[in-house]
Amino acid sequence: MWRKAVLVAVLALGMGYLYHTDPELPSRVLNYVSDSLPQMEPSGGSEPHPPTLEEAIARAWQTLIAAPARRWARVAVGVNACVDVVVSGVGLLQALALEPGSGRDHEVLHGKEDLKEAFIHYMGKGAAAERFFSDKEVFQRIARAAAEYPGAQIYVGGNAALIGQKLASNPELVVLLCGPVGPKLHDMLDEQIVVPPESLQEMDEFHLILEYKSGEQWGSSRAPQANRFILSHDVSNGEMSTLETFIASLDEFQPDLVVLSGLHMMEGMGRDLWEERLKEAVIAISDVRNEVPIHLELASMTDRDYMNRILQEQVLPIVNSIGLNEQELLFLTQSGGGPHADLASWDGVPDVGRVSDILLWLLEQHGRADPESEADLTRIHFHTLAYHILATVDGHWGNQVSAVAAGARVASSQACGLQKVDITKVILKAPLNFYSSFSEPRESLTVEPSRPVTVWRRGNVSFHLTPVLVCKQPLRTVGLGDAISAEGLVFSEVTPRPEL
Ligand SMILES: *[C@@H]1O[C@H](CO)[C@@H](O)[C@H](O)[C@H]1NC(C)=O
Repeated sequence: MWRKAVLVAVLALGMGYLYHTDPELPSRVLNYVSDSLPQMEPSGGSEPHPPTLEEAIARAWQTLIAAPARRWARVAVGVNACVDVVVSGVGLLQALALEPGSGRDHEVLHGKEDLKEAFIHYMGKGAAAERFFSDKEVFQRIARAAAEYPGAQIYVGGNAALIGQKLASNPELVVLLCGPVGPKLHDMLDEQIVVPPESLQEMDEFHLILEYKSGEQWGSSRAPQANRFILSHDVSNGEMSTLETFIASLDEFQPDLVVLSGLHMMEGMGRDLWEERLKEAVIAISDVRNEVPIHLELASMTDRDYMNRILQEQVLPIVNSIGLNEQELLFLTQSGGGPHADLASWDGVPDVGRVSDILLWLLEQHGRADPESEADLTRIHFHTLAYHILATVDGHWGNQVSAVAAGARVASSQACGLQKVDITKVILKAPLNFYSSFSEPRESLTVEPSRPVTVWRRGNVSFHLTPVLVCKQPLRTVGLGDAISAEGLVFSEVTPRPEL
């Protein structure tokens, strides 16, 4: 070690000397020094420091994650897609020549004044809100102003489009995306994505995300914390109007995996309309060839009746796999009277035992844990900030260790806006010791950082858990769930079943 210390001292002296003669050089020398520093830096003693838990987990994932034996070649994704425009709320309203005033909530925004009042109402509370803007013409004008506002950020939006984008980052995959795709969205999509001509439309479905900062002031209102107000005039996604086109295009596309999302968007139509539309959706989905697995990505819903309908009667029994987060999981058990339905909300990191109980209930009561069951559901990819669980009915899926780890690796890098996990920017928040169930009989389990996927079985179901390395300063978390589910699917495979 002393020799290295001397080397550093010599370099330091050299730099001091050079600095006086050539001001261009030191940065180059510094680069050299910092490149060679990691191996030299003593930590405490003179031994190389033991890896942190985060480091051990990130490294172990790299060796654990392997592609499945049989990869998907063609994946069809539908049906919600839009363009997200993120813009300063106050800036946009000013650009629309609106004056500050007092706040007032509106369930539906009928014009610019409603928008202003509702925005001020929520900004004053620092609360998130999402509203439908009823006037198509005026909305288009606002959307144009937002997209052209200096500093506006424009992104691919909608779960299906985001899942499609993530899948398309695998060069060997052919991805079909069906949804309301306007010219702007079409431009932004990965070149590899195939969009059926019938799903192209003249205008984009814009979702305007009006951001405000903590302490930001407009007139007499002041935001107690940073948040966002979202508005759209999104009829196509609200009615899942491209669902039938999507299903019809599958005959020609011949996918070996179908990914469906956007069901949650219909809730806003009101009960009479969604009842009808949901029935049509189920009929359409049932048309998908039996041997092609269907993954359904759930997203936030607020109507218990609607969720219950999806759960009990119609949608869950006809899909093979679902992806959801802790809010949706709790909502499912509450609306279906499952375990821990009395829990009003999760308190901090969701208890692994409780989550495991609900996942088992879903697969046993609404899935195919019993081979005699009529249901098709055999896989649930559960994601929450601190950890992920992949629960699968035995005999249907393979490569679960890689799939759950790959999903967590994507969450750990993408939240920081990176392609790879940077262990200096993440922190472990998952418990390393937990139980397989909330109540007895239960197994005591541990996450081993050097092999960070913990496996347990209950009945005919296997559980694979891995912690997430949570980004300390997340850049953009919209679409993170979609990326996790997409990556988990890329590393999953179905195991061929002997036909009876
Ligand atoms: C598990 O599978 C076996 C047959 O393989 C079946 O008899 C049993 O009922 C299943 N268990 C549950 C809880 O569904």
